[in-house]
Amino acid sequence: MKSKLSSPFAEIPFLNTPIFLVPFLLLSLIYCLIFPNDLRLQSMLAPCNSAPATSTSVHQLAEEAYTAVDLRVLLGVLTRPGSYERRALLRLAYKLQPPPTRAVIDVRFVLCNITTEEDATLVALEIIAHDDILVLNCTENMNDGKTLEFFSAVPRLFGGADDEPAYDYVGKADDDTYYRLAALADTLRGKSRRDAYHGFLWPCGEEKEKDPAVEPFMVGWGYVVSWDVAAWISSAAAEEELRRDAKGPEDMTFAWWLRRAGRGKNVYGEGHRMYEYLDEAWMGGLSCYRHLLVPDTVAVHRLKERILWARTLRFFNATAGLKPSKMYHLN
Ligand SMILES: *[C@@H]1O[C@H](CO)[C@@H](O)[C@H](O)[C@H]1NC(C)=O
Ligand SMILES: *[C@@H]1O[C@H](CO)[C@@H](O)[C@H](O)[C@H]1NC(C)=O
Ligand SMILES: *[C@@H]1O[C@H](CO)[C@@H](O)[C@H](O)[C@H]1NC(C)=O
Repeated sequence: MKSKLSSPFAEIPFLNTPIFLVPFLLLSLIYCLIFPNDLRLQSMLAPCNSAPATSTSVHQLAEEAYTAVDLRVLLGVLTRPGSYERRALLRLAYKLQPPPTRAVIDVRFVLCNITTEEDATLVALEIIAHDDILVLNCTENMNDGKTLEFFSAVPRLFGGADDEPAYDYVGKADDDTYYRLAALADTLRGKSRRDAYHGFLWPCGEEKEKDPAVEPFMVGWGYVVSWDVAAWISSAAAEEELRRDAKGPEDMTFAWWLRRAGRGKNVYGEGHRMYEYLDEAWMGGLSCYRHLLVPDTVAVHRLKERILWARTLRFFNATAGLKPSKMYHLN
């Protein structure tokens, strides 16, 4: 956990930087005095009624805020080096979300080998600016083992023994999927931290009849497993075996690995809270996996165009923070 990259997104930002923390905590103390009942802020920053912010109590507060975190998730967004605009949009989208309560969700962009001069420079700039990119040892591909590469690399990169893992859960998402991190954290919090397999279970509803033989799996646009499952994938014996079976639709393949090995037996399908985007204009496409945006969404998928991102982000009130100013006007 110590060697982990710093999070630009949902992480509590002040753990390693007590000096940075002083104005922040002072502000929070003042805030607590004025609004003593604001539970969200209290739970993020520990008790309001602590001693004044001397350097020791600052440290204590930081520690209490840290121990209040009871859930850590690494979410890898599998994308390609050239998808600069999508990464910029995703960074904005995640940065402007309300942070999860008592949870840390680190979002990382996952690439295979960088092969062009252009990408080598531009991705380097992104890493310097944001420090949120993992480059794995693979050739860019979708159904040819990138998922295996990701899940097996995470335990090696982030370390942590089996009984004290760096994260409780590891998930992957496509870059046209928008997770709502607070909702994800809340739904994972009550679930098993061993042998867990969470996502949108396929087939759903009416789809079950179409192909009764299909073995259920979490659709590939976003799923999460507990750390022990990633640790198993990463183990030398499993990895070698899985590598031989890494081709084919990655989501079905993944489920097949788990089933064959008797892993991920705690299966959590999210039902209507994970779905594909549906526009008012194309209501004909309504189905068990596609419907209009709903407030308690965990993840919405198929955001392939800018306008779909815009509508989704507006629905979830991402623009609510815009302050009136004479400097701009937007319609
Ligand atoms: C990267 O992958 C290649 C091909 O799969 C392999 O030969 C090589 O040993 C790997 N390198 C590292 C540093 O793991
Ligand atoms: C990826 O790049 C590394 C370092 O340049 C190289 O050793 C490795 O063989 C490459 N892997 C693949 C799968 O191309
Ligand atoms: C967005 O904000 C409006 C106005 O405060 C509220 O009614 C609505 O429920 C919010 N939407 C979501 C998805 O939280």
